[in-house]
Amino acid sequence: MAECRVSEESVAESGGRLKSEAYFQEKDLWGFIHRSFTKSMGYTEEDLRKPVIGICNTFSELNKCHSHFNELVDYVKRGVWQAGGVPMEFPTISIGEPYVKPTTMLLRNLMAMDTEEMMKGHPIDGVVLLGGCDKTVPAQLMAAASANIPAIVLTGGPMLNGRLGGRSLGACTDCYGFTLEHKAGNISDDELAVAENAICRSDGHCMVMGTASTMASIAEAIGMALPGCAAIPAPDSRRRHMSERTGKQIVELVRLGIRPRDIMTAAAIENAITVTMASGGSTNAIIHLVAISQRLGMKLPLETFDRISSRTPFILNLRPSGKYQMEEYFEAGGVPALMKELEPLLHGDCLTVTGRTVTENLVQAATLDRDVIRTLEEPLDSQGGIAVLRGNLAPDGALIKQTAVSAHLKKHIGRAVVFESPADLNDRIDDPDLVVDENSVLVLKNAGPKGAPAMPEIGQIPIPQKLLKQGIRDMVRISDARISGTSYGALIVHAAPEAAIGGTLALVQDGDEIELDISARRLELKVSDEELARRRLSWQAPKPHYDRGYGLLFHERVLQANLGCDFDFLLPAELREALLGEIESVRKMESSRLK
Ligand code: FES
Repeated sequence: MAECRVSEESVAESGGRLKSEAYFQEKDLWGFIHRSFTKSMGYTEEDLRKPVIGICNTFSELNKCHSHFNELVDYVKRGVWQAGGVPMEFPTISIGEPYVKPTTMLLRNLMAMDTEEMMKGHPIDGVVLLGGCDKTVPAQLMAAASANIPAIVLTGGPMLNGRLGGRSLGACTDCYGFTLEHKAGNISDDELAVAENAICRSDGHCMVMGTASTMASIAEAIGMALPGCAAIPAPDSRRRHMSERTGKQIVELVRLGIRPRDIMTAAAIENAITVTMASGGSTNAIIHLVAISQRLGMKLPLETFDRISSRTPFILNLRPSGKYQMEEYFEAGGVPALMKELEPLLHGDCLTVTGRTVTENLVQAATLDRDVIRTLEEPLDSQGGIAVLRGNLAPDGALIKQTAVSAHLKKHIGRAVVFESPADLNDRIDDPDLVVDENSVLVLKNAGPKGAPAMPEIGQIPIPQKLLKQGIRDMVRISDARISGTSYGALIVHAAPEAAIGGTLALVQDGDEIELDISARRLELKVSDEELARRRLSWQAPKPHYDRGYGLLFHERVLQANLGCDFDFLLPAELREALLGEIESVRKMESSRLK
């Protein structure tokens, strides 16, 4: 076993004494009160001498992807007791992707704050973080990075494959497909209802390589979840076994004094990016990894993603970019098997929650199905899934999931058809009089962090109905919104700075020529600087969506997409200071537009 490389900071913070001891072992008034109140719940004197393990249970009937968490918690508790700890379950907010309006992204930072403060404010020596649905795992990793208390992530696992007529269905890639064909008039209402019943047939999160599966894989690749955790289907008995093992392991982590910042180093983040790129993972992972990295005090420029993407072959044959789903990934060996293939590209000496290194964890890993996990020598594509685009239309970057783009659109010039807001898009996209053809570039403004608000997943701008009926299924589409990890098509998203603060996107007009060249990483608005300056003079910022409450806090303090959409005040002070110039220049841009 490798030497346990725990930082001096971790040792200094622990002071050789568990946090729970300060609550339960003192003979003063507060020790008396803590013991007395805790014993009233059935805990004994003996229990209170054990390390306290917080179990962050995000069960909610408003979050389908976490509906089975109470059962998993029982198994985690078994593991904690077996290893000599005492489990104490606590709730935080839980964010279910299909329900939260206007978008779950509005609440990611709130969940991260909730989780961090729960971890810091209680007699907790270590924490098991149960997450699954898209924003929950990033929120918990952000919290773990900031709280820096021993922590381990247990994801809830993907749903079983949907099944219909012998065909595998995936949420929500096929949700788009079915509704698209229904809109085109190719399937009936009854057929749509049958599909609705067949697609989600078990507990768990979406089972394609969408954001939830991507973030579960990242939790594992970055070293914060036990090897093999991400891909076990939610209803599989082996997820219960994994839950029990996770409960045992957090007690061991507390004993070893290993904390999140010992694990989530810059090298570990690069490992997570490599796994994401090889997997055709979600573009949302970029925002979340930037946010996690910044919580750890490290800048993570978009160029890092592009550099790693360029050198990482795409080898995981999973939808929406490939053929299979998480169930087949699990049977093929899951994340450990993928990481074994990627070993030459990984930092093998990174510490993980096993107390061992990545290389040591991978000794037994092997691929069991070569059509699901390819080799580096015979990849599905020579490059990773996500490309970072630059140009006058997105000076601070934009993203495209290149593995999901139709081949004929990878290099494209077309004329803009502009929608000023999500509401304008809804009103006009299916207007029979809309001047649009298959070569047009659909542009959606004011769907970014402040504009929409909170960057909803509406970057998959629908194909106009009249083109759908002509058989068109993909077009170049540009926005400052996000897309679901389950989306596919030529979708350019996260354009920064966003339109609502006066980014170039705000200045695009109908008929402007736009050039996309993915291999050159270029996104250009073919309009002269002089003309753009002229348009800027008459541009007016949209009104903020909120005048009070959390929404106003979000509007005032959220950072742009290339800075992870975290709140500026949640960054460590030193990094905030270092980024101040960047943050301030955006602020100035915004306030000058508002005058
Ligand atoms: Fe939760 Fe898709 S709805 S992961």
